[in-house]
Parts: sequence; structure tokens; C-alpha cells
Amino acid sequence: MQLTIENAEKVLKKYLYQDKNKMEHSIRVAKISKILAEKHHGLVDEAIIAALLHDIGKSMVKSKMLELCAIKGVILYDFEIFESLEALHGKAGAILFEREFNRELQPEKFDRIKHAISSHVAGADGLMSDLDKIIYIADNIEPEKIKRNESTTNNNLLSKTEELVKADMDECIKIIIEDKKQRAQAKGRIYNPMLDNMLLDDR
Ligand SMILES: [Fe+2]
Ligand SMILES: [Fe+2]
Repeated sequence: MQLTIENAEKVLKKYLYQDKNKMEHSIRVAKISKILAEKHHGLVDEAIIAALLHDIGKSMVKSKMLELCAIKGVILYDFEIFESLEALHGKAGAILFEREFNRELQPEKFDRIKHAISSHVAGADGLMSDLDKIIYIADNIEPEKIKRNESTTNNNLLSKTEELVKADMDECIKIIIEDKKQRAQAKGRIYNPMLDNMLLDDR
């Protein structure tokens, strides 16, 4: 299948049709990604496609995510295996993406979108691209998600979506990471250690 917004919408429905909330979340993330892409990146259709598809891995049960990643030889971190299999949904989603779209038609676009899906939970080895940052930010400042986290978040800035889309993307990611850490702490949970590496360039 070719990488178009229309096809991304079909694939989103195919995997998440049973979960209205996740479908709607993905559409809201796509709208914010579009605004961010217009401001920071330029490749608007790529940002919309990646956003629509970023959570398709959530269609799988956690054990299936692990199995699929193991079969494909995807590098996994201890945190993902022992603390939060849920954190694998980005990597698992990237495998589903590979199944649905034809890399040969647009290899560079394909690789950029696949990486953004794979790394949207807590980054990846290597520098984040602009597209990775757009999807990460849009996913985390999506208003309904912010509302869900409101009871534990300490950072009022995060609810100001309009201001955040205008801000420097690295600064915005720092705010999001700090908030995630504080919420994990408040709940007595371990946070994903990959968060500490997200903006480092020497991995
Ligand atoms: Fe996600
Ligand atoms: Fe998401």
C-alpha cells in the first residue's frame, strides 16, 4: 500500500476500530501534528500519517507485542520487558506498519514514519528527527490525555496546547519528560529510563 493520508486512515480503522477512544486520540494527535509540522518541519502529510498510525500497536495484547518484537529481532530494553510491556506498543506498531505499507514505493518517507511510530513512547537509539519530535509532542499534549493526567501532573504549562505548539520542540520535550517523571514518582512507579536519553546526541 502507498503512504497516503487516506491509506493511513484505513489502516488506523483496521487496527483500532474496536476502540473508539484510541481512534479519536489518534485523530486529535494528527491535528496537532499537522500544526506542529506546518511550524517546524514542512512535511505535513508525513506528520499526519505517522500520527494517525502511532498507536496501532495498541491493538495487540501485551504478550503478542513481546512475541512479535522477539520474532522480528527488535532490540528491547529491560524496562520494556520487566516493568512495562505496554511500552512496547511503539515498536510493535512499527512492525504492523511494515506489514501494511510498501517500502519500495517511498523508502525514505517509509523509514521516517516507521521510526517515528517506533520511538514515540520513549525515544530510540540515536538522535530524534523532527518528525519523531512532532509525534512525541503531539501525543503528549493532546488535550484529552492532559485531562486524564491532570490529577497527578504538577505542570500547568502542559495544558496550554496552543502555547506549546509554538514553543521550541526540545524545550517542549523537556517539559513533557519532567512531567512524566514526576507523575511516575507520585505513583511510586519506576519511569522509563530511556526518557533520560531522549534528547542526548551521544548515544
Ligand atoms: Fe502510544
Ligand atoms: Fe498515543
